[in-house]
Amino acid sequence: MEQFPTQQGPIGLFDSGYGGLTILEKMRSLMPQYDYLYLGDNARAPYGTRSFDVVYEFTRQSVKKLFDMGCPLVILACNTASAKALRSIQTKDLPLWNPDMRVLGVIRPTVEQIGNLTKTRHVGILGTEGTIQSKSYPIEISKLYPDIIVSGKACPLFVPLVENTEYDSDGADYFVKKYLDELLDKDSRIDTIILGCTHYPLLLPKIKKYVPEGTKIVAQGEIVAQSLQDYLDRHTDMESLITKGNNCEFFTTESVEKFRKSASVFLKEKTIHATRISLE
Ligand code: DGL
Repeated sequence: MEQFPTQQGPIGLFDSGYGGLTILEKMRSLMPQYDYLYLGDNARAPYGTRSFDVVYEFTRQSVKKLFDMGCPLVILACNTASAKALRSIQTKDLPLWNPDMRVLGVIRPTVEQIGNLTKTRHVGILGTEGTIQSKSYPIEISKLYPDIIVSGKACPLFVPLVENTEYDSDGADYFVKKYLDELLDKDSRIDTIILGCTHYPLLLPKIKKYVPEGTKIVAQGEIVAQSLQDYLDRHTDMESLITKGNNCEFFTTESVEKFRKSASVFLKEKTIHATRISLE
């Protein structure tokens, strides 16, 4: 059985592809002192249409890899992985690997903020098919805010549009309008829409075009970064394990060149050096 020592190291961030970079960017600007290690499973993205078992297995492999590379704490910077794999990893795998290590997701911190944002108490969620089918958002929201009515809309073409850098195209306009119309047809009283996929912030300018004025659009980056900072303030044992050298390293399961090009769009940084790794 695999076990990992309690170790000092960077914060690990995992996403199926590039979406988690929208979370990484906000974490680095709020907490620049820490070291970070980003892993994108680009060779097997997107995860959004994959089954529970497959998303769990792929995510588990990625988390193990990040622990292997020295991270004491891993953030699943992916809603699909948070919805379909986080709980099993926390309850089944972590106790065996090392109960002092931590894996955190992005859904809970996002949900915690929702009660303060919606006035009508009608909320919409945009996400991958996997996230919407899992019902993780309505389930978590009902635990904290039972009065809120939640409608979800799967947007299967958003991730391919973003991964192929087509988020600014006319094709993107067509699908953004279509999905938003379908969401608002379900419930016209929605005043707050959660971007429940870490890829979607790149579509934000288009999303704003097709919602009624005054609708709040909630992107997760700042929320998740703030929630991690609060977590580390409260958990000083974990905080002391995070190395503080202001470094960030990138790993991908696909071509390094492709990662460098696409990641620079997400991070607006020109020089991104990535290393290719294999997870199987
Ligand atoms: N970025 C991921 C999320 O937040 C989804 C991308 C995918 O479908 O792989 O759900």
